[in-house]
Amino acid sequence: MPEPALAELVGRALGGVLDPEIRKPVTELDMIGGVEVDAAGHATVQVKLTIVGCPAADAIERDVRTAAASVPGVTAVTVDVSVMSPAERTALTQKLRGGRAARAQQFGPDSLTRIYAVTSGKGGVGKSTVTANLAVALAERGLRVGVVDADVHGFSVPGLLGLTDAAGVAVRPTRVDDMILPPVAYGVKVISIGMFVDSASAAVAWRGPMLHRTIQQFLGDVFFGDLDVLLLDLPPGTGDVAISVGQLLPQAEVLVITTPQPAAADVAERSGVVARQTGQRIVGVVENMAGLVQPDGSVLELFGAGGGAEVARRLSAGQDEPVPLLASVPLSIALRAGGDAGAPIVVTDPQDPAAATIRAVAEQLAVRARGLAGRKLGLSVH
Ligand SMILES: Nc1ncnc2c1ncn2[C@@H]1O[C@H](COP(=O)(O)OP(=O)(O)OP(=O)(O)O)[C@@H](O)[C@H]1O
Ligand SMILES: [Mg+2]
Repeated sequence: MPEPALAELVGRALGGVLDPEIRKPVTELDMIGGVEVDAAGHATVQVKLTIVGCPAADAIERDVRTAAASVPGVTAVTVDVSVMSPAERTALTQKLRGGRAARAQQFGPDSLTRIYAVTSGKGGVGKSTVTANLAVALAERGLRVGVVDADVHGFSVPGLLGLTDAAGVAVRPTRVDDMILPPVAYGVKVISIGMFVDSASAAVAWRGPMLHRTIQQFLGDVFFGDLDVLLLDLPPGTGDVAISVGQLLPQAEVLVITTPQPAAADVAERSGVVARQTGQRIVGVVENMAGLVQPDGSVLELFGAGGGAEVARRLSAGQDEPVPLLASVPLSIALRAGGDAGAPIVVTDPQDPAAATIRAVAEQLAVRARGLAGRKLGLSVH
């Protein structure tokens, strides 16, 4: 058999270069305009970026250069960077949507993505902190993970995952025509209203319909690609956003977060009950801010004990399957500090007891395949 031409080998090597935002090989994204290798082994690769000033440009150019140079026989590499024409860009967004109409929801009832909406009755119980760490822990297990920061008024996910600049302003997502590419942190694709406002303290004072439209846009215009898991960080309580999420994603399963404080059980239970009213199933309860083991071995139970088990017990009443208490995450200074610093402790301090507990929740959720319950099988009975 003849040896494959050097240009072909370079082309194959480029198949290993991923666009850092879209997370697909540049070759599949039609971003390689051509590859030539001259007799002296000098390779010239034409790279077409999606947009002018593409923030990923440097990474793509570097990775293309490295991939091409790794092919035996290539002696030098030139990367010619240009930008796609409008027609090429439209073809790309259509290809990425895979036939789905622009603005159409990408997590319809037949989607294979497992969706978890993280909710609570009370505010400040650690929904966002748990969501961010859980997402990163799931991504570390090799799953394709997305997070929608559905707390439009109180967005916090960009900060928790380090997607902010020194002033605390969240990074801007790249847009390819009307398609928004979610920024990636720790392997997790993230979208938040914080990425569309001008300052970290900007207030978004919207009522129900605008909130609904925003969540709809996050699920339609933002290109997540094929995800194994989508997590939604909900605002506290049972307000407009929780209801919109229930309507837009009735197949989502709900993770109820509560503190060990028995008095918080009523409100936590209510958030689960509202989710059920929109058809969502409760996957389990996570108790957060549980007892902290002190250096002398005693346990500091700042918020009491037993709240998680109590909420799980109440939500199980009258159900065919009991709602499990999935974990009890202890109070952790490292967990709090990691959130403040934008460095999730499941990565930076995986041995911390809170990190280990959240990783154990990820393990439980990672092995659950999306069931067929409630999905149309496409069979008809004659
Ligand atoms: N296990 C924990 N130990 C110590 N601090 C924690 C723990 N969990 C969360 N926190 C801290 O508690 C505060 C509230 O957490 P977080 O913002 O995640 O809660 P939330 O439920 O999302 O709040 P909101 O209802 O405002 O959205 C944060 O400062 C966070 O760092
Ligand atoms: Mg929050």
